[in-house]
Amino acid sequence: MARPKITVVGAGNVGATCAHWAAARQLADVVLVDLVEGMPQGKALDLMQARPIFGFNVEVVGANDYAATKNSQIVIITAGIPRKPGMSREDLINTNKNIVAEVTRKVVEKSPRAFLIIVSNPLDAMCYVAYKVSGFSRKKVMGMAGILDTARYRCFIAMELNVAVEEVQAMVLGGHGDDMVPLVSNTTVSGIPLTELVSKRRINAMVERTRKGGGEIVALLKTGSAYYAPAAAAVQMAEAILCDQKRVVPVSAYLTGEYGLNDLFFGVPVILGAGGIEKIIKTKLSKEEQALLEKSARAVAATRDELKM
Ligand code: NAI
Ligand code: 2OP
Repeated sequence: MARPKITVVGAGNVGATCAHWAAARQLADVVLVDLVEGMPQGKALDLMQARPIFGFNVEVVGANDYAATKNSQIVIITAGIPRKPGMSREDLINTNKNIVAEVTRKVVEKSPRAFLIIVSNPLDAMCYVAYKVSGFSRKKVMGMAGILDTARYRCFIAMELNVAVEEVQAMVLGGHGDDMVPLVSNTTVSGIPLTELVSKRRINAMVERTRKGGGEIVALLKTGSAYYAPAAAAVQMAEAILCDQKRVVPVSAYLTGEYGLNDLFFGVPVILGAGGIEKIIKTKLSKEEQALLEKSARAVAATRDELKM
C-alpha cells in the first residue's frame, strides 16, 4: 500500500520543521511547497540525506508548484508573512488572507479529499478563510494553536513543580491571542488538582506566561517566531488523523452554536481521528473561565469581521 502523503505549504521555519518532525516519525511522504525557488527543494534534499543517519525511509520532495501535492491526505498551511515595520494589523490580515486563500484554492484543486491544518496567523481568522475558500466540511478544516498553547502551559507547570511533563494534564481554549484561556479548574498533575499543589499567585504567573508564550520567544529570537513546538503540534494533529488516534485535544474548530458561538473558528476540545474533527466536546467551565472565553471570542469575532468574507 502506498504511504500517505502530507503537503506542507510554506517551507519557512514552521513548515520545514513540520517536514522534519513528520519525516523523522515516518508518518508519511512529505511535499514541501514554497514560492522561493530552490529553497523547498534544498530543504527536502537535506532531509532526504538525513535518512541514512536516523534510518527513516519516507520521501521528502520540495516544489514551487502543486503537481507533486496531488492526492495528499493532509495539507498543513504555514504560508504567510510576519508583520513588518510600518505595517498595520489590518495590512497583515489582508496580506495573509490573500496568501491563505490562494494556497487553499491550489491545494484543494489537487487534493479534494485532504484534511486542512492551518497554522498561518492570525490563526482563527486564517482558518475561516481556508474553510470558506475550500468549501470543505467543518470536520476537515482546523487550526493549530490549542495544542501549542497547552504544551507551553504544561511545560511551565512541569518546570515549576519539577515533574515529568506527561504528568500534567491541562487544556488551553479560546482564540490564539493574549486572551486565550488556560483552564485552571481542569488542570491536574496525575489527577491531583493544580490548585492543591501551587499557590494562586504562581498559577496566575504561569497563566500569564502561557498567554504571552509566543511573544516571549519572538523577543528572544528577535527575527521570527517559534517553530519547534508549533511544528510538533501541527504534526501531532496530522498523526492523530492519519493513525485514527481519537486524541482529545484543543483545536481551532468552526462552531455552529457550541459554547454559544456561531460562524467562528475558536479553540475548543475535540476528538481528532480518521474523520478529522469527529466531535466537539463541551466541558464545564467556572464562571470566571466562561467570562474569559466570551472575551476571547469577542476578539476573534472582531478579526473575522475584518476579513469581510
Ligand atoms: P516563515 O517566514 O519562516 O515562513 C513562511 C513561508 O511562507 C516563507 O518561506 C514564504 O516564502 C512562504 N510563503 C509566503 N507566501 C506563500 C505562498 N503564496 N505560497 C507558498 N509559500 C508562501 O514563517 P514561519 O515562522 O514559518 O511562520 C509561518 C506562519 O505561521 C506565520 O504566519 C506565523 O505567524 C504562523 N505561526 C502560527 C503559530 C500558531 O500557533 N498557529 C505558531 C507559529 C507560527
Ligand atoms: C506563537 O504562538 C507566533 O503564533 C505564534 O508562537
